[in-house]
Order: sequence, then structure tokens, then C-alpha cells
Amino acid sequence: MYYGADYYPEHWPEERWPLDAEMMAEAGLNIVRLAEFAWAKLEPERGRFDFDWLDRAIAALAARDIHVVLGTPTAAPPAWLVRENPEVLRVRADGRRVHFGFRRSVCLVSETYRAHSQRIVQAMAEHYRDNPAVVGWQIDNEFGCHDSARCYCDECRRAFQAWLRERYGSLEALNRAWGTVFWSQTYTDWQDIPLPYADVEQPNPGLALDYRRFASDANVAYQRLQVEILRRLCPGHFVTHNFMAGQFQELNYFDLARDLDFVSWDNYPDLRRSDPAQLAFNHTCIRGWKGQSFWVMEEEAGPPGNTVIGPSPRPGDIRLWTYQAIAHGADAIVYFRWRTCRFGAEEYWHGILDHDGKPRRRYCEVQQMGRELERVGDEIVGAEVRSQVAIVFDWDAAFALQAQPNNPDLNYIDHLRRYFTELHRRNVSVDIIPWNADLRHYKLVLAPMFHVLPPEAAAHFEKYVDKGGTILFDVRTGVKEACNQAVDMPLPGLVADLCGVTVAEYDSLPRGLRVPLLIDADPSTAAAPEGQVWCDVLALQGAKVIARYGGQYYACRPAVAINTHGRGRAVYVGTVGDAAFYERLLGWLLETVDVRPLLETPAGVEAMARWQGTQRMLFVLNHTDSPQTVTLPAEHRDLLSGQVLHGAATLGPKDVWILI
Ligand code: GAL
Ligand code: ZN
Repeated sequence: MYYGADYYPEHWPEERWPLDAEMMAEAGLNIVRLAEFAWAKLEPERGRFDFDWLDRAIAALAARDIHVVLGTPTAAPPAWLVRENPEVLRVRADGRRVHFGFRRSVCLVSETYRAHSQRIVQAMAEHYRDNPAVVGWQIDNEFGCHDSARCYCDECRRAFQAWLRERYGSLEALNRAWGTVFWSQTYTDWQDIPLPYADVEQPNPGLALDYRRFASDANVAYQRLQVEILRRLCPGHFVTHNFMAGQFQELNYFDLARDLDFVSWDNYPDLRRSDPAQLAFNHTCIRGWKGQSFWVMEEEAGPPGNTVIGPSPRPGDIRLWTYQAIAHGADAIVYFRWRTCRFGAEEYWHGILDHDGKPRRRYCEVQQMGRELERVGDEIVGAEVRSQVAIVFDWDAAFALQAQPNNPDLNYIDHLRRYFTELHRRNVSVDIIPWNADLRHYKLVLAPMFHVLPPEAAAHFEKYVDKGGTILFDVRTGVKEACNQAVDMPLPGLVADLCGVTVAEYDSLPRGLRVPLLIDADPSTAAAPEGQVWCDVLALQGAKVIARYGGQYYACRPAVAINTHGRGRAVYVGTVGDAAFYERLLGWLLETVDVRPLLETPAGVEAMARWQGTQRMLFVLNHTDSPQTVTLPAEHRDLLSGQVLHGAATLGPKDVWILI
């Protein structure tokens, strides 16, 4: 298994490199990522390349059998490039061009920038294609980071207009799709079409959605420009990109993943924000973007921070986060960063080593893991995750709801996470999938807030249900056509018949207002779960009621219903519940479709499985600070300790088993 660190030899005296390589090797590290921000050093002036220093750094690492992933350095162009071509700088939604001095400051649509990018990537690829230490490439760095997914420069505007021409064919079609008769926005010339600038307070919803799609396509096209060069010149190397965490919603990650060999991502659990379920959700999304295992290209290895410093990972955290990533499908772990830099914007973003480069607690933890992975890593690489439950992720829904959230407390990805969190609590393995995935593998498909519903997706879902599948929809589903106009039919639009309900009316609730939900099968009102944010009042068209509202002017009217369709079932949930609601709902649904947890565990202990052929590896992770007793129904061997375990067994604080 590849296990390594992000390394910046250009930040340190050359005399130090051999010691770094030696310390890495002693910690079991066998890969580094290099050079993703080194453009100014690789091409100090236009057309003059200097690879000597990088060659020597790679040689120092190779002397310790350490392999290299090279970053293409296009996330931060050199000052001379920007001086010579100031038009490559990105323009913000408020019309201001950003200044040089940070990173991700360029427009990826800019022909000039694309040409310069091609040049540096080609030069690097030609130089490193035959270097035996180099095994692959990371393209650029975190597309979309620092609010850079969309640019508002004139070149982007012209490119958007051309994209629209391609999509709609004629202005009549565009005017119809966007409903531009509203507020006198009818376009008679393509060049009149604006971008959704900050001062366009409420852009046309069709334009707003299309601009997000366009900008996502533009990032994908920019990545492809580099992918093509690398595939042509370095056929033996893999090509990847480091994606942002699961909650990032600005680029269509299914599209971005398609051109890569595998997806990588940057995992910063940061004690201040993340709980294990959130981290698991992020890993699940990442695994979902390409439907296969992935790399963590940056894994938190020290206190995060730039101007202020975040909390230090507690003893055991780095190891636990690493195993959690592996449990969810990571095939390689690369820590950010090897050593904390003494200068630059990330002077306080700590790595495995502190500023002084001395090995301390975090180095020892990384080394312990390194020893463990030397023993068990290769057994795990390539093992698949097999889930019986899937959550459908749709980028049109994410984008359309960004433009019009419907309720200030509706956020697409947070809403999907409500379902995920409950499944995770129950140790039920989940896949994130696009709507057009093969649904037959799943006993249960959840498609929450499937907001923009094309007829093909509705037909795909219906076929799945008719063949015996069970699907769940909920609030704000089927509301929009692909052009982002509201549908001309009762909600949930194209899946109303499948669900056997229509939405008689809806109520967008002010923050804090909650409506009790009375479960029909269990009419006791004691500790009734509650609906919040949104209430669809359902009219039954063949479906059977599961829950009703217990308040407001729609008291007693249906809130949740289930319908039989063909050989399967569709559930419609008309509200956003509290945690107690999802606990009840999913408990009942999982029983209905006969999906069992991987393992029953105490709170704070996570179970997740990967399969190598017929061999299952059950990861059990104790996220708490105290020992936990887990009852193992069968005999298992723990790959890490070699112990044979059965019945009530004790898992230490922050400790992990890999049970076979
Ligand atoms: C990531 C980025 C790295 C580094 C790290 C810590 O988002 O890819 O280059 O900035 O965060 O801030
Ligand atoms: Zn631009």
C-alpha cells in the first residue's frame, strides 16, 4: 500500500533532503507528492525550464525507495506570467479582478492561461516520463478552492454564450427555456446574455443553473487539457486530482472524476468541525464520484492553521483517521505535510514534523501505522466496498438549490447527510451514486430532494421499483425541469404516480417552528418525532399513510406515505425530520427491505467492511476516548494484533480492529 507525505524539497536546504528521505523510510513512507506549487522554480522565466533541483530531490527520495506523484503546478502561476498576461487573473462575481499574491487566482477558461498550462505540463511530462521513481500525476490542486469554481471575466462570458448556443441551438429555444419574457429579458443577440454577476440580485433561474453547469464543464475541460497531455506522454503513469471534502458543492464531481484513473481527496478532520459520521460521509461521497477506491492525497497530520492555529490531533487521532479512510475505500494515504514550513501563507499549517524538523509524537504515530501497513496494507489494497443501500447524488439538484434554496435551512448536501448519518449510526454501508447508476445492486435507494427531475431519471427509478426495488423521495422532489422552470403538474412531478401521492400544498416553515409527526403504526404521541423546515401536505393517490402531521392547520393530514408499484415500493417523505424521525423511519425501512447492520456496536464505535474477493475485512473503529465492549457474534482474527476474538471483546480507546 502506498503510504506517504506531501513534501516540498524547495522549502528546505538541499543538505537536508537525504535526512528527510531517511526519516521517511524509517516511518514506513514509500511515496511523496511533489511540486504542485513549484511553477516559479520549474520555469523561472518564460520558456526556460529548470528541472535539475527536482531531479536531485527525486534522486534523494529514490535512494530510499520512495516513489513520487508529481503535481502539475498550475494552481499558482509565477509572477512573470501574470505580469506578461494580466488578463489571466480571475474576476469575482462583483466584477473585481483578483490580484496576484495568493493561489487559484487565475481563470481556467483563459486561452492564454490554457496555453501556458499546456506548456509547463508538457515540459514536465517529457522530462519525467522515464524517471522510474515517478508513478503518477496529480493535476493542479483542488479545483474550485478559495471560491474559484466560477469566474466572471469577459472571456468567460463569451465562452458561456458559446456554451449556450451549443446547448440550445437557437435564441428562441433559450428564451423559451429560461422564460425570458419575464422582466423583459428576451434575448435577440447571444452577446447580450450576461453572467449572474453579484449586482444581478436575482438572476433568471435558468441562467443561474446553466452558469453553474458551464463553469463546472469549464473546470472539467481544463483538467482534460492536462489529462490528454499526460496520457499521451506518460502512458505508464496514473493521473488523479485532489478533490475537496464532501461538503464542497461547486463542481460536478462525477464529471471531474470521469477522466481520471482514480479520485484523490484532502481530508482535514479538524477537531473543531468534524464528527466520525461527517468524515464517513465525506469518504463515501469521494468513493462515489467514481464508484471505486480512492487515495487520500492530503491527510491531516498536525495542528491546522494559517494565521490562527487549530487544535492538535489527539494521540491516536491520526491513526484512527487513517484507518477510517482505509475502511471506507482509501487505497493510499499521503499526509499533509512532511514538515511544517518556516515561511509562506501556511507557516502555521503543521505537518508530521514541526518547524525544527525533529521527530516527535506525531512522527511516532505515523511510524507505528507505517509498520502496521507494511504488514496488512497489501491485503487491503483494491478491496471493494459492497453496499445494499445507496443515496442518489445529483449535481443539478445541488446547483439549482444553491441558486434558489427554497428555505434558508435547506442545503442539499446537509440534507442527504441526515439520511447518511442515521445509516452510519446503524453501521449500514452506503454508496453515493448518480441517478443513472445500475440500481439493481441495491435493496434500498434514497433520492432525497431530487429537485431537477428529467424524464429519463423518472423512468429509470420507475423501472427499478417495478422490478422489486424500494425507493425513497422527499421534499422538493420533481419540482424543476432540466431548464430550471417549475413543472406544470402536481408535485412530486414525474414521480407522483410512482409515489401514489400528490402534494396538495406545502408550507415552508420559519426557523424554530416544529410540527409533531404521528406515526400511524404507533399512535402514542409521547416523544413524537418532529418535522421542521418544510411540510408537504399529501393527498393520497393510492399510497398508504405512514405518518401524519400532529399540528398546524394540516393536523391529521398525511406527511409520509408508501406506495406499491409493480413489484416494488416507493416512499414519499413530505417533511424534513429531526434525528428521532430519521431513526424511526430508517429503522422501519431497513427492516422492510431486510438490510442488517454490519455489526451492532456501542455509540461512537463504527463498523465498515471491504471485500477482497470472498474475503470480508470488517473494520471496527472506536472513535471514543474510552474502551468499548463490542459483541462479536462469530469468531474473527484481527489482522492488526493477530488476536482471535469472539463474543464480548474490548476495543481500546481510538483503537481499531480489522477482522477477518
Ligand atoms: C489543502 C490544499 C493544500 C494546503 C492544505 C492546508 O486544501 O490542497 O495545498 O493548503 O489545504 O491548508
Ligand atoms: Zn474567466
